[in-house]
Amino acid sequence: MTATIIDGKAHALALRTRIAAHVATFRQSTGRAPGLAVVLVGEDPASAVYVRNKGKATRDAGMESFEHRLPADTDSATLLALVASLNADPAVDGILVQLPLPAHIDAQAVLLAIDPDKDVDGFHPVNAGRLAIGAEGFVPCTPLGCLMLLQDVHPQLSGLEAVVVGRSNIVGKPMAQLLLQQSCTVTIVHSRTRDVAAHTRRADIVVAAVGIPHFVKGDWIKPGATVIDVGINRTDAGLVGDVDFASACGVAGAITPVPGGVGPMTIACLIRNTYVSACRRDA
Ligand code: GUN
Repeated sequence: MTATIIDGKAHALALRTRIAAHVATFRQSTGRAPGLAVVLVGEDPASAVYVRNKGKATRDAGMESFEHRLPADTDSATLLALVASLNADPAVDGILVQLPLPAHIDAQAVLLAIDPDKDVDGFHPVNAGRLAIGAEGFVPCTPLGCLMLLQDVHPQLSGLEAVVVGRSNIVGKPMAQLLLQQSCTVTIVHSRTRDVAAHTRRADIVVAAVGIPHFVKGDWIKPGATVIDVGINRTDAGLVGDVDFASACGVAGAITPVPGGVGPMTIACLIRNTYVSACRRDA
């Protein structure tokens, strides 16, 4: 079997185009544009690229992008004061503080300071709690993008066996919550799991989010299963995922490539969350 390649780039473009149309209507009816504030502390080159791409995607959707670049030696009090001013600014619908932050800053304290109703990253504990109980809030962009790709392959997720590889707060845990909400039977496997392959081999859906290049092998996949690869690992061989794509492709029914799979969906979902925030705040 050769897997269908899930075109994340095309899905993301379609989502961004749809949101841009909604934004145009929003601007006409309210006289203002939804606004996203992105805060970057320091000069991490990968973060700088992400922030530039987020700003461009925001403007492309017809929304306002507020970019705040602070030096690497910025102290916590200065950053917290900026977050407080963004919380209070009516033109700002979404706030994103790019991670990782420099080591001298308590990242958790900064995330806690963001108004949960402007937390378009979905990283605030209040939004993690809302997701856990199925209440309205913000869902982290990467797992939300994964869910959208999965729903395209499986319009009916109910009853499917899903295995999430990795238990991070940003991807693994919220991904498991979303799949549970869709009535999947969900297993999370992690670094202490005794036999990871025994679990993935039973799964109709495997979501790999461990940050280890080529961790999930083709013979860990059930024939015909759908494989979502969240990994973005920079190696000497270039950008590779958490799934051994070459071997998995011969077994899976559908699979996301790296790059061009989950990555573009993350930014598209950020744009979506910002638009949703503007609508809620305007209601
Ligand atoms: N760093 C890498 N990805 C992300 C993201 O989605 N949000 C934030 N805030 N920081 C990141």
